Amino acid sequence: MLLNDLIHPLTIGSVVLPNNLILAPMAGVTDGAFRSLCSSLGAGFCVSELVSAKGILMGSRQTLGMIDFPFQKRPFAIQLFGESPEVLGEAAAYIEERNLCDVIDINMGCPVSKIVKNGAGCALMKTPKTAKKILETVVRKVRIPVSMKCRLGWNESNINVVDFVKMAMDTGVKAITVHARTRDAGYSGLAQWKYLENLQDVCGKIPLIGNGDIATPEDIAKIHEISGCQGFMIGRGSIGRPWIFSEMIGESKGLDSKEKFGFFRRHFVETLMEHGAAGVLLFRVHLFAYLKGHPGVAAIRKQLCFESNPAVILSVGKQFFEG
Ligand SMILES: Cc1cc2nc3c(=O)[nH]c(=O)nc-3n(C[C@H](O)[C@H](O)[C@H](O)COP(=O)(O)O)c2cc1C
Repeated sequence: MLLNDLIHPLTIGSVVLPNNLILAPMAGVTDGAFRSLCSSLGAGFCVSELVSAKGILMGSRQTLGMIDFPFQKRPFAIQLFGESPEVLGEAAAYIEERNLCDVIDINMGCPVSKIVKNGAGCALMKTPKTAKKILETVVRKVRIPVSMKCRLGWNESNINVVDFVKMAMDTGVKAITVHARTRDAGYSGLAQWKYLENLQDVCGKIPLIGNGDIATPEDIAKIHEISGCQGFMIGRGSIGRPWIFSEMIGESKGLDSKEKFGFFRRHFVETLMEHGAAGVLLFRVHLFAYLKGHPGVAAIRKQLCFESNPAVILSVGKQFFEG
């Protein structure tokens, strides 16, 4: 199948996405500035970084800042994590009342110890009854569509993605994303798409969104061929390369370096607007990814580790992109 046939609008419940290329939630990476950039470059949908449901209900200023980003392009999903059905339900209702997003996504895939030790994130794949209660409660609490993101299972000996997806299907969720790794695999090794075989059939009319190591049109064709998935979620492939979306939807056959520098500058300026002076530090992960592969990057990396002057960072970026 041609890539053009695989990229198309996608419906999540009542929400129509302009296309099925989705920016993955990535804590510390996909803040408002990066989401806005990726949307402009053709991502059909963005999901927020994972947000603590408890933090919302406790009125944590930091948490509330993560869900109320004034320039957010819609449609947009906020991803919640937690282990209590009631708390997640209340947090989702809080978000819906304020019209902060179009879809609520529930995190059932986070591998990080401090999350799973409380029974949230991927730990929910070990407690499917609680996971079911969470999804049923959130679905009941809000009118907007609810989606769920999980992994293959806890580890290689406990791959339960098919049963877990079937469980979720019974709760009324309107989309399911699967990152094709186990919790124990973290982000290492290759994503194991083979475990997603024909998984879209299990989901029926609910779109399955495939995720894990998608970075080229060939990856899209392959994961679709194996799983039948209707949506494609891109995470690390977009860091330092947000134009991956426009390239995939065929809107640009490759930007020139001047255009790339323009997007770099916009990204940096909007990061500063969003986070103030702290934005310089937060941008570092992007900065090094943008510069990756350019000659002389090792030396400049060392210098930039301690650089807090935005003007210097911009001029280094310009030099790297425009020569
Ligand atoms: C730095 C980082 C932070 C992440 N944070 C989240 C998160 O907040 N919520 C979530 O569901 N997944 C999170 N993920 C996982 C990604 O959404 C995605 O599932 C994973 O990176 C695999 O996709 P990729 O190979 O395209 O990167 C994170 C991944 C990375 C690398």
